Amino acid sequence: MIDKQKFEELFNKRLIKNISEEQIDIVLSGQYGKALELLRDAEATGLFPALVGPPGVGKTILCRYFARLRAKENKNKNFNWLTMDESIKPSHFIGSFDPAITLKKGFVLEAFNPGPLLRAMLEGGTFLANEINRATEYSQNTLLEPLEEASISIPHLGRIKADKDFFFISAMNPEELSGTHRLSEALKDRIKVWIKLSYPDKATELDIIRINLPEHFVIEESELELIYSIINETRKNKIDIEIPASIRAGIAIAKLLARRKTLEKRGELKDKMSIHEYLSQVTQNVLLGSIKPKPGTKVENIIDSIVHKTLGV
Ligand SMILES: Nc1ncnc2c1ncn2[C@@H]1O[C@H](COP(=O)(O)OP(=O)(O)OP(=O)(O)O)[C@@H](O)[C@H]1O
Ligand SMILES: [Mg+2]
Repeated sequence: MIDKQKFEELFNKRLIKNISEEQIDIVLSGQYGKALELLRDAEATGLFPALVGPPGVGKTILCRYFARLRAKENKNKNFNWLTMDESIKPSHFIGSFDPAITLKKGFVLEAFNPGPLLRAMLEGGTFLANEINRATEYSQNTLLEPLEEASISIPHLGRIKADKDFFFISAMNPEELSGTHRLSEALKDRIKVWIKLSYPDKATELDIIRINLPEHFVIEESELELIYSIINETRKNKIDIEIPASIRAGIAIAKLLARRKTLEKRGELKDKMSIHEYLSQVTQNVLLGSIKPKPGTKVENIIDSIVHKTLGV
């Protein structure tokens, strides 16, 4: 077991005290530059925006990057975020009373642990409500006041007005994907700027894969092209595939291939597979859990046909 002192030491060493210290490697070509501009426009006009797009298109990284820009400009304003689902209650984002202190002293400020939304409102930070359309209507309704009035009522304590720099971003997968509640009409009406992100264009996606590879990992253009064609094939097949491979899948395949090439250079390979054969194998390993087939379709069959089409194996 880790002792208390060691734990505190490690915790403080790893604590991100300020988002402006965080290193974020982001590609801002294509849709990302435009989306960032829209976020800045929304900020400048006091309109709260939403990012809408399928899993893994870069909603979170864009928000983090934007929050970091703001933090740098506003001198250390923070970034708080929460991923919502049906089990999220308003107390998870507003905060709650510590039972032990409340028992002794009652519902006093001292007993209250602020949640990420309240903290962002107090500090003038950026709050990201990730997967906001997965929250229940009850939780969504609690967000109406912060969105409309930039204020929030805390039970027993009163109502607070947010700092003028408070900024609320929603992110969600498109409603037609299963597993999401609809966004309530009332909430929808309060989000005034809708920013759609989809799978990036080829040049941008290749840049994203490159930027996500560790420096010592090198792969050739022709190999990157192959990886892109595999990933893109999953996005073209709308008959069998409900959710295609995201950017994450391409990054994963590229990392595995790059590692193999490093081993090859060092003469440490244990087999004689060609690049195409190896790619075919890791494509299976990565795509198995990275694509969601339509009901009644076997994911293995889809992968086989993609591998055959793109790699000829
Ligand atoms: N523009 C970009 N520049 C650099 N990396 C990116 C970019 N867009 C996406 N990525 C990378 O792709 C992966 C997925 O991005 P991210 O987590 O932001 O997606 P998301 O839309 O929030 O996904 P989810 O809906 O699953 O939460 C991450 O590894 C991220 O680093
Ligand atoms: Mg995300």
